[in-house]
Amino acid sequence: AKARHYNFEVGYIYWSPDCEERMMIGINGRFPGPTIRAKAGDTIVIKLKNSLPTEGVVIHWHGIKQLGTPWADGTASISQCAINPDETFVYRFQVDKAGTYFYHGHYGMQRAAGLYGSLIVDAPDGEEPFRYDAEHSLLLSDWWHENVQAQTLGLSTIPFRWVGEPQTILINGRGQYNCSLAHFTGETSLCKITNSQCAPVVLRVLPNKTYRLRIASTTSLSSLNLAIGNHKMTVVEADGNYVKPVIVDDIDIYSGESYSVLITTDQNTSSNYWLSIGIRGRLPKTQPALAIINYHPNSLSKLPSSKPPVTPQWNKYSHSKAFTYKIVAMDGTPMPPAKSNRQIALLNTQNKIDGYIKWSINNISLAVPPTPYLGSMKYGVKNVFSAEKPPENFSEDYDVMRPPINPNSKKGSGVYKLEFNSTIDFILQNTNTLSENVSEIHPWHLHGHDFWVLGYGDGKFKKSDVAEFNLKNPPLKNTVVLFPYGWTAIRFVTNNPGVWPFHCHIEPHLHMGMGIVLAEGVEFVSKIPNEALACGITGQKLRN
Ligand code: C2O
Ligand code: CU
Repeated sequence: AKARHYNFEVGYIYWSPDCEERMMIGINGRFPGPTIRAKAGDTIVIKLKNSLPTEGVVIHWHGIKQLGTPWADGTASISQCAINPDETFVYRFQVDKAGTYFYHGHYGMQRAAGLYGSLIVDAPDGEEPFRYDAEHSLLLSDWWHENVQAQTLGLSTIPFRWVGEPQTILINGRGQYNCSLAHFTGETSLCKITNSQCAPVVLRVLPNKTYRLRIASTTSLSSLNLAIGNHKMTVVEADGNYVKPVIVDDIDIYSGESYSVLITTDQNTSSNYWLSIGIRGRLPKTQPALAIINYHPNSLSKLPSSKPPVTPQWNKYSHSKAFTYKIVAMDGTPMPPAKSNRQIALLNTQNKIDGYIKWSINNISLAVPPTPYLGSMKYGVKNVFSAEKPPENFSEDYDVMRPPINPNSKKGSGVYKLEFNSTIDFILQNTNTLSENVSEIHPWHLHGHDFWVLGYGDGKFKKSDVAEFNLKNPPLKNTVVLFPYGWTAIRFVTNNPGVWPFHCHIEPHLHMGMGIVLAEGVEFVSKIPNEALACGITGQKLRN
C-alpha cells in the first residue's frame, strides 16, 4: 500500500460550467476538483489550504469509512472545526475498500457552490470480480445561476424563498445552459460555444469492448435518471459495494449514491449514441444533460441517428421503485446480524419554527453547535450540545398521509448515543409535507458506515414489517432513498468509534435541519489532532 499526496487550495474562481460565467468554489483554480485515485489499502494525504477570503471550509470524503480517523471525516461542527481562511489542515486517512466515491464540502452549502470532485479506489490487482476493457467516470451535479449565499439566505428568511429547480445538470462539471442539444448540432445561433469549460462530454469507445461507467451523484437537490441510446447497462456496483449484476435500460441515481454499470459496445459502429440524464421526482424545469458515446472511428461531430433517450415521467414512482428494489448484494457480501439490539424510528417532517420552514426528525430540527461534537465528547467537555436524549419514536397515531396537525417543531443538537459493537436498525418514515398531497424524496446518507438495506414499503411502517425484512441478500450502501409516503429500513453495526451524522443528502434539506448525529465508542478514539479542535470550547481548553 502506498501513501498518495495531494495539495488542495480551495478558493473562489470565475468559471463557466454551463457556458454562463459565475463565481464558484474551485480547487487549485479549477472546477471540479482534482480526481483522487488510489488502490484499496492506500493512505491518502490531502493538504488543504483555505484560500476563501472570508469563510471556513471542510471537505468530506463521501463513502470512506474513516476507520480509526474520525477527525478526518470533514464535517464542520461534528468531526472538526472549520478551517479558517489562510489556514491549512491535513486530511490523512485510509481508503479501505475499492469503489466509486467522491468528496465534497460539508459546511453550509459549499457543495452547491461547486466544492466537489471524484475519489476512485481500485481493487487490488486481480481482485475485481468482473472484467472490462476500460472505464469512464461521470460525476453528476446540478447548478444554479443564483449564488449560494443568496440561496442560503432564501431558506432562512420570511417569506421562505426556495432555491427552485437548477438551471443546468452538469456531467464532470460541464453543462450547456438551455441548449444541450443545440451544442451538439452546432446551431451556434442558439448557444454560446465559446468556452472549453462547458464543452460537451464525449466518451470515446472502441467497438466490441466492455466498458465500466462509474457514475456518482453529488447533486445539491436533483434525483436523476440516466440512459444510453441502444445500449443496456449491467449494474455491478452501488456505493462501493458489489451487487448482483442486473440488466436495465436506465438507472435512477439520488444525491449521495454511486453506481458502476457495464456496457458492451456491440451496436452499429457507423453511429454515435446519446447518453442522457434527466430529473426524477420533481417537475423538471431543467433540460436533460447530454453526452455522446463516440464509436471509433466515427467523427465526434457525427450526430446519433436516433433521438436522445427520454427520462421516465417525473412522478412515475413505480419505475423508480422497480429499479431500487432490484439492487441486491452480490453473493459473498457480508450478511447482517439476524436481529438488532435497538430499533430507532425516524419520522421525517416538514415543520415551522417561529414561522421559518424547517425539516425535523422526530420533531427536532438539527442545529449543530459551534464546538464540534467529536472533540467535546472525547474529552468530556460539558455544555457543548443539548444533553437531552433525542426521541427514538413518534406518536402511534401520526397520520403520515396528511400535513402535520401541529406544524410546530423545535431546534436541537442532542446525540443518539449508541452502544459500541451493537446492531442498530433505523426505520426512516416519510410523511406529507406542509402542503396537501405532497411528499418528497429524501436520500439518506450515513457517515462512518455502510449499512444493509433491509426493506422499503409504502405508507406507515408496521411492527409486522420486520418479518418481511430481506436478511438473505440486502445490499450494502451508504446512501438510501426514502420514497414519498414510504418507509425504508436499514441495519448496521456500531464498530467504528466516532461521531457520525446521518442525514438527508439534499443540501438545502440538511441546511434546514434534516439530520441526526450518532456517537459510538468515542472512548476508543485515539488522540485527535489539535487542528481539529481549535475552535469553540475545545479551542479555549487547548489554549489554557
Ligand atoms: Cu455526502 Cu454528510 O454527506
Ligand atoms: Cu430531504
